[in-house]
Amino acid sequence: MLPQVTATRYVTPLREGGSLPGLMEADDFGTYVVKFRGAGQGRKALVAEVISARLARVCGLLVPDLVAVDLDPGLAAGEPDQEIQDLLRASGGLNLGVDFLAGAVDFDAAAAGVSGELAGRIIWFDALVSNADRSWRNPNMLFWREGLYLIDHGATLTYQHRWESAGAAAGRRYDIADHALVGCAPWIEDADRLLADRITPEVLREAVAAVPDEWLEPEPGLDRPAAVRQAHVRQLTARLENREAWLTGLREMASQPGLPRREAAAPVRPFWLTPSPRRRTIGSGGTTTRNPPRIPPGETIPRNPPRIPPGGTTPRNPPRIPPGGTTPRNPPQDGEVAR
Ligand SMILES: Nc1ncnc2c1ncn2[C@@H]1O[C@H](COP(=O)(O)OP(=O)(O)OP(=O)(O)O)[C@@H](O)[C@H]1O
Ligand SMILES: [Mg+2]
Repeated sequence: MLPQVTATRYVTPLREGGSLPGLMEADDFGTYVVKFRGAGQGRKALVAEVISARLARVCGLLVPDLVAVDLDPGLAAGEPDQEIQDLLRASGGLNLGVDFLAGAVDFDAAAAGVSGELAGRIIWFDALVSNADRSWRNPNMLFWREGLYLIDHGATLTYQHRWESAGAAAGRRYDIADHALVGCAPWIEDADRLLADRITPEVLREAVAAVPDEWLEPEPGLDRPAAVRQAHVRQLTARLENREAWLTGLREMASQPGLPRREAAAPVRPFWLTPSPRRRTIGSGGTTTRNPPRIPPGETIPRNPPRIPPGGTTPRNPPRIPPGGTTPRNPPQDGEVAR
């Protein structure tokens, strides 16, 4: 079961999110991105979030911690915005809390270097859970500290929206033409070799056991939460057993010529802020250094960047953003992933 906390304050809406998630504080002094049970996507989106996040972790991928947030609809009274008031009123009971990664930077397909190894594992995982929401337009990945975090798994496990035809979903191809990481030369084969054995029946049972009963709505033929849980385990087991059917598609697409190979953008920061040799390429557990920054012989990166003298001004020519590059919303701080 997910750890449970009680919401104490609604802080602000996250307007980018289609499901109108909100930032909330809870009685454990944590701050969470809360996905509401009363949102248009419904409770099944929360079920998908929990199961997929568990499976992502088993695949060695980073996801923020999840909690169940008990919400008193009375908190709606203090909200001036009518839409948010309605959402809070419709969401009494347990909602999903995603640990808020303060200072995280949205993934930018054009600017980030992700190793083929990591891209392979993410794509393999997305194919397993049929994630409809990891396109380059809406990658649902965040850079935080030195890692790449996966978020927003509400649009996975789409078979649960039509249990009658779920059987056909087990071997369905997964289209990666628009996937955010298709241009990173994903190692699909290695991911399959590494991950398929990790998704055991025990792992699947643990993943579905984490979902609160009250999100598992009765379905025709699945009248109790335990029956819905079993149906998820059966479905994901069948997906895994049928994986040759979807792996073939992944291999073909990943090796197609002409797929966008998005290269890391040229550095846009002053030389003294270029990545230190201690910084690593993301991937392979964050331990490999794919392209360590080259330092010309005899030159060192100064430990303390030159200070702007009192009364001094910022450089007249600000760093240029390369064609196709974007300005990060929160520029990386020292110690974060180089972009
Ligand atoms: N745990 C988190 N920490 C920091 N920022 C987050 C977190 N979760 C979400 N965000 C920010 O909020 C935005 C919306 O979140 P998310 O994608 O989960 O919501 P959604 O309603 O499912 O969105 P979508 O419109 O993609 O369906 C993200 O793009 C990200 O910028
Ligand atoms: Mg999203």
